[in-house]
Amino acid sequence: MPTHAPEASAAFTALHGTHSSVVLEVRPHEAPLWRYWGPRLPDHCVPLAPLRDGRAIPPSSMEFDQPLTVAPTFGVGWYGQSALLAHRSGRQFAQQFTACRIETLVTGQNMAIHLTDSVAQLRLVLHMALDAHDVLQLRSELFNDGADVLDVQWLAAGTVPLPGDAQAVRSYTGQWAHEFQLQVDALSRSLWQRENRRGRTSHDSFPGAVVTTPGSTQHTGTVYGAHLAWSGNHRQAMEWLHDGQYHWQMGEWLAPGEVRLGAGESLQTPTLFASCATTGLNGLAANFHATVRSRLPWPGGRMRPRPVHLNTWEAVYFDHRTDDIRALAAAAASVGVERFVLDDGWFQGRHSDQTALGDWWPDAAKYPHGLQPLASYVNELGMEFGLWVEPEMVNPDSQLFRTHPDWALQLEGRPLLTMRNQLVLDVARPEVADHLFTQLHTLLSNVSIAYLKWDMNRDLTTAGDALGRPAYRSFVHALYALLDRVRTAHPRLEIESCASGGARLDMGVLAHTHRVWTSDCNDALSRVSIQRGALQFLPPEILGAHIGPAPAHTTGRSQSLNFRAGVALSGHLGIEADVRHMSDEERMALGRWVGLYKQLRNRLHTGQVWLGGDDEGDDGVLWQAHGDANASELLLLVYRTTPTSHRNTPPLRLPMLRPAALYTIERLDPTPPDWTSSPLNDAALAAGAQQVLPPTAHGAWLAAVGLPLPRMNAESALIYRLLLVAP
Ligand code: DGJ
Repeated sequence: MPTHAPEASAAFTALHGTHSSVVLEVRPHEAPLWRYWGPRLPDHCVPLAPLRDGRAIPPSSMEFDQPLTVAPTFGVGWYGQSALLAHRSGRQFAQQFTACRIETLVTGQNMAIHLTDSVAQLRLVLHMALDAHDVLQLRSELFNDGADVLDVQWLAAGTVPLPGDAQAVRSYTGQWAHEFQLQVDALSRSLWQRENRRGRTSHDSFPGAVVTTPGSTQHTGTVYGAHLAWSGNHRQAMEWLHDGQYHWQMGEWLAPGEVRLGAGESLQTPTLFASCATTGLNGLAANFHATVRSRLPWPGGRMRPRPVHLNTWEAVYFDHRTDDIRALAAAAASVGVERFVLDDGWFQGRHSDQTALGDWWPDAAKYPHGLQPLASYVNELGMEFGLWVEPEMVNPDSQLFRTHPDWALQLEGRPLLTMRNQLVLDVARPEVADHLFTQLHTLLSNVSIAYLKWDMNRDLTTAGDALGRPAYRSFVHALYALLDRVRTAHPRLEIESCASGGARLDMGVLAHTHRVWTSDCNDALSRVSIQRGALQFLPPEILGAHIGPAPAHTTGRSQSLNFRAGVALSGHLGIEADVRHMSDEERMALGRWVGLYKQLRNRLHTGQVWLGGDDEGDDGVLWQAHGDANASELLLLVYRTTPTSHRNTPPLRLPMLRPAALYTIERLDPTPPDWTSSPLNDAALAAGAQQVLPPTAHGAWLAAVGLPLPRMNAESALIYRLLLVAP
């Protein structure tokens, strides 16, 4: 009977970012113990002593002390969440790592932790790196070294510790047109867990969360965040431990039987991006933004200024008539649009959402000479041409399905469940992937398409492959491979990830695409919270944000152009309205907003974003500032979401400014908040439209007392520029 190996002398290994550090306690015969993840420690700061030296065995406990490791495993003295759940035909259900080797690639920055369980005959390699933006990247690889099949139920991408004063979890729920609804749960000694089993990232369970500590705010204090780079099923859990800390795991949620590793086979998890920030939620967002930016696969290696879109969906839906579309393109060009995206409705037989998905050639009646004449016309108007596709899908009423009914994911004996009248193709089948590639390649080779809006309008159900095995994770990997194959063949192409709005919006798909469609909701009031949620993890330049029509098609609410444009301004701007039918006055006003966006986009899209005004005392005023890290130039977007309860609007405090510096302040909104719509034509609102600003103000004053704000109507926006003039 083997006994536990005696305590070998411990070594301490650290990773240091700019503002955060990781410390592990390493021994050759066990998985490294987590000693620290938190605010930056000095370079040579190591624990006082090995962890077990400092803690006696508590009453009614095992003689073997098993603290949290980087890969805790069930059944061998660990009672918390296991990083691995696996078995071999019901046996060998408990694993324990008995050998550990650390491979350091760049000292202090990254390592590969090689763990072996010689009894269960498996190896786990945990890759861990802490980048200069304080984002910790964790990824696990599991190897089956045994002769028998290893059934894997769960493999965490990573396990991280959270301090005992971790207080609340901010995660996101939602639904179609209502993504990123913040949910705050108090952490307690009960398990906190969220799972997504919809087969795509989902509207309702974003694969990430943020953990706050006492006193942390948008701008200050220690917070932790994590985000799984994966576009399928996922699970995350936080659990209290008996030594007073918490641990947090995230990984793919696997369907029963989904991963069965044969001899010599391995399983790779997606990467978990985790970060600790000491400057509150905004600091955490800045860390994630910097890391996402460093990984986006831009054609040519660099982001071009984000071109203004016009997307045809809400203007014409499926009703594509050549003259209308050309007129829409001309009207779009006249307001400064730079990329014209032809949405759903262009391909053979597509007159509603009931038919034709899968038949990816131009509808002969709508586009008798194909799409190139339209693309050329769009190009002549000075715009790029973009096209909507939904390659992974098929309508039962389509030529593709009639020819290949077996290509849809399905389960023998179960009904084919449709959603939006469509089924999902088994993209992991080589012949399906080849067919889709050929269809896309033909389009991209024959038409001057600069951009694909790649949609995905349903969840996965009955997702069995041809052999009846679960095909959820193979579907996601096949999607990523198809995206890469298309991009390799067409390296100048940009691709948007859309899934009924924001149901596939994550760092996994963003390794293969260039923008996300944040939500189908173009209602500016709804968009304020949706975009703020997304901004916690993703930078503004990749969040599609369109100026929609009034009333908004998804909510029925009407908002002024000032508010619709002011809210869309910060993201990747587009228009999703029928510009043809606007009055000349409205079109000119729209053109002024487009011009402002072009003037500001470099500042909006390259620096840090600060969000503020979420507290009740803020009286419905939310703000968003975009600036460089030195706060020498800031664009400030102020939104009043509800009517004021004050007689005089309190000034807006801006904590990110340099205290000793002097700033000039300028109002930039080209159309004033919609005070004219009030029959009262209130003098205070009128005055707000021509706000008198001080010539300069001190950063310290603006932080302590604040920027004077005019009275604003509910659902209106103000845009300011603050420019450091001295010192
Ligand atoms: C869902 C998308 O989110 C919309 O923007 C639009 O492209 C429709 N699909 C088209 O079917």
